[in-house]
Amino acid sequence: MEVINFRRNDMFCKIHSMALLGIDAKKVDVEVDVGNGLPGINLVGLIAAEVREARERVRVALRNVGVPLPAKKITVNLSPADLRKEGTAYDLAIAVGILCGLEMIPPEFTERVCIIGEVGLNGEIRPVPGVLSCAFSAREDGMEWIIVPKDNGQEAVMVDGIKVFAAETLDEVIDFFIGCDEKEPLMREYQAEITKSEEDFSDIRGQYLAKRAALIAAAGGHNLLLLGPPGSGKTMLARRIPGILPPLSLEESIELTKIYSVAGMFRPENGRITKRPFRSPHHTCTPPGMAGGGARLPVPGEITLATNGVLFLDEFPEFRRECIEVLRQPLEEHRVVISRLYGNYELPASFLLVAAMNPCPCGYYPDRNRCSCSPDRIRRYMGKISQPILDRIDLCVELSAVPLKDLSDKTCGETSAKLREKVTKCRQLQAERFKEEPWRLNAQIPSAGLDKYCVMTRKAEQKLVNSFVSRGFSVRLYDRIRRVARTIADLAEEEIITEAHVSEAVLYHAMEGGFRGYNGGLI
Ligand SMILES: Nc1ncnc2c1ncn2[C@@H]1O[C@H](COP(=O)(O)OP(=O)(O)O)[C@@H](O)[C@H]1O
Ligand SMILES: [Mg+2]
Repeated sequence: MEVINFRRNDMFCKIHSMALLGIDAKKVDVEVDVGNGLPGINLVGLIAAEVREARERVRVALRNVGVPLPAKKITVNLSPADLRKEGTAYDLAIAVGILCGLEMIPPEFTERVCIIGEVGLNGEIRPVPGVLSCAFSAREDGMEWIIVPKDNGQEAVMVDGIKVFAAETLDEVIDFFIGCDEKEPLMREYQAEITKSEEDFSDIRGQYLAKRAALIAAAGGHNLLLLGPPGSGKTMLARRIPGILPPLSLEESIELTKIYSVAGMFRPENGRITKRPFRSPHHTCTPPGMAGGGARLPVPGEITLATNGVLFLDEFPEFRRECIEVLRQPLEEHRVVISRLYGNYELPASFLLVAAMNPCPCGYYPDRNRCSCSPDRIRRYMGKISQPILDRIDLCVELSAVPLKDLSDKTCGETSAKLREKVTKCRQLQAERFKEEPWRLNAQIPSAGLDKYCVMTRKAEQKLVNSFVSRGFSVRLYDRIRRVARTIADLAEEEIITEAHVSEAVLYHAMEGGFRGYNGGLI
């Protein structure tokens, strides 16, 4: 390779790169100084072990593309100093910084370029997570170009207003800087049409109460618990809930795309994520798998992957207790804080929880012909879900197996499109009502705001009080029922909650005092 020398007085140069913090990226500068002293590369700036190893990767890679390092002392500083740098994404910026320090590439142009990528020993550039977030931040920082690994190219081009150079090898990056001709930015590839879901609400026969509860859940953002024997259609119903939520807003879509980019699960050929996620982790899922983790870079868990969509937990009591307990904070705050040795980071976790469970370990209670579970066993099974979690689930419905005559019924219920219209309208109403508040949905009204926002007729209030007395409801249910009644009234486009709305809201709490007369240990 032809090496051109660009003479200048100082031997100091600065290259821009990005650090991932949660799902957002922050600028990191790679400063390189080449001077006299003990030959070798010295890396400083609060760096993790894998960043330190960049020294070896970069040295070998440079040699393999024909740039042996001179007998000089090369100092590489990653700033800001108070931000811990992790991962392998700084390799390429370090390599370019060294080339710049050695005056092999001109420094002027590098000021407007952000560089991300891992470098292999043979000089190939390997993909890294979170390139989409890096491209967003680079544009915000006023960069003209972003250089990314070839495999991440389509991710970076999703961001308008910054030019992308997607490199396969270190050679290409060197050519990019020393090539004099106009550089062609990578173009966005054809975006595939998103395939429409084949699953529709009108497929579900019978189960009117459950379908209605799903509509209320989607409209007001209420978490939902489905209770019923195997084959009653719990999974079928849950899978159709993302399809009745309003279409993703641009911000929601970008947030999701960033999340999947950080998780390394983003397929650029499908374009920006435009479909609400449906995540259905198995009950053997681990707490970090659920909440997220990662010793170095953030690894989003199921609750983050379900952001702006549905988290479906089938066989709810079978999940490990710790797995269920980690849901508490996210259900309240719509984010999850992951603590690590070197500082915490935060990931979004704003999802609709849909949990499903059998009424007993064998699944057939209260059918005494088929169920052989002892009351004690059932109580223990139910007791696996803690009260603080149940307090965050506003809606609970029981499903029974659909009678044969209903299954063969060919009259279709409402379609997903029709229900989505209702949900969207209802959510607009809430957004308007809560525009001065920090929350957007009825399910998020804090207890202190209920008197203001859930105004009831005298009769409705009386009805609610009576239900509590006759059914032995607990006081903490009071707020949950008021929130649900608010959504039911909103679906009917009524500002004042009436008796009918309260009567319906009460239906979705069959669990209180035991369902179907069984005085189990649930509440
Ligand atoms: N209400 C229903 N309407 C139409 N088909 C149903 C209904 N309930 C169950 N099915 C059929 O039974 C199958 C099993 O239902 P599933 O949702 O897996 O039940 P569960 O999750 O409650 O065990 C479904 O794939 C569907 O074909
Ligand atoms: Mg199922």
